[in-house]
Amino acid sequence: MLHKVIARRDLLKLGLVAGGAVLLSGCQKAVNMDFSTSQLRSFDASNSKMVELVRLATLAANGHNTQPWKFKIIGETIEIYPDTSRHLAVVDPQDREQWISLGCALENLVIAARATGFFSEIRYPDDKQNFITVNLLPDIAAISPLFDAIQVRQSTRSEYRQVQLSSDLIDQIHSASTEQGVKLKFIEDIAETERVIDYLNAGNLTQYSDKAYIDELIAWLRFNKKEADATRDGLYSKCSGNPSVPRFLGEMFVSGTKPQSQAKADAKKLRSSSGSIIFATENDSSEAWVRCGQAYERLSLQLTSLDLKSALLNQPIEIPELRAEFQTAMGLGENHPQLLLRYGIADAVPYSLRRPVDEVLI
Ligand SMILES: Cc1cc2nc3c(=O)[nH]c(=O)nc-3n(C[C@H](O)[C@H](O)[C@H](O)COP(=O)(O)O)c2cc1C
Repeated sequence: MLHKVIARRDLLKLGLVAGGAVLLSGCQKAVNMDFSTSQLRSFDASNSKMVELVRLATLAANGHNTQPWKFKIIGETIEIYPDTSRHLAVVDPQDREQWISLGCALENLVIAARATGFFSEIRYPDDKQNFITVNLLPDIAAISPLFDAIQVRQSTRSEYRQVQLSSDLIDQIHSASTEQGVKLKFIEDIAETERVIDYLNAGNLTQYSDKAYIDELIAWLRFNKKEADATRDGLYSKCSGNPSVPRFLGEMFVSGTKPQSQAKADAKKLRSSSGSIIFATENDSSEAWVRCGQAYERLSLQLTSLDLKSALLNQPIEIPELRAEFQTAMGLGENHPQLLLRYGIADAVPYSLRRPVDEVLI
């Protein structure tokens, strides 16, 4: 990871650290935001430094945008807890994706803390502690391109431009730093992509034939601006390129989706991407899931900083029997698949919302 190391006093001179919180430096202009989102994503001078770090953490990717986290600030220590009331019982019965989501938030926090002059000492969840502890220790501030990318990253679920990336870009993606115990498998050739698509199809056919899966999805879909603004969580239709409609119409449309149509649409999206990456871990523990979330968030920030878009297609990994077959078929050996990410070139889509930071503080 490239880190430009700058002394904290230089940051102050540059105006990048103000009133204990961090101002944005730049790459936001080309982004398609609606009013509420741009307000949400810009620097909030009324927050203390610790609260602003938490707000930046909440901009991370998270399953179904449930924002399944709670944060406790104790001096210069921040604890991150799973919010069990936001658990996805059908798609994530083990809380695997919930811990990955907490790992994504942790990574944003670590990068933002580094930019404001803190080194993060992390304690991962284990048998004795069901939360993450981050002790923030004073250090040299280091602004990285990843820090700028926190406010710009998004899940872009549209079809991409189906272009071959330059070897320089591919090299940069391949050299992404990962986390202890997290392996990345890069998929770029057509035959291997088609093998992934076989499993993606199987996942879609299973999920879209499962009423419990559809009901849970519908509960987290926000079909119009009024619904999205009311909860500021969930999957807002506009962010996935769908029109704003009244709830009864949206529900009818989603529950009437033919599994084959969903499979066909997602296969097309994967084929339009420049490449995909499977994240796999040596262990299948809460620590491994958190570390996987960190590796994924970091890589998606790196892709953002390279002006590339990305989105997850985790269907083959969310169904236990398929997950085991996928592990073998993709040659992952003993490593457990956790996430399937596609990336490429596309326009930005509207941003997903977040709840006000006060709602996630305990
Ligand atoms: C563990 C995890 C699983 C996810 N699974 C999917 C998925 O299968 N399909 C998808 O389109 N997005 C998936 N996402 C992306 C989330 O829906 C997205 O991060 C959330 O809606 C917030 O939007 P944003 O990433 O644009 O900020 C997943 C994210 C995480 C962290």
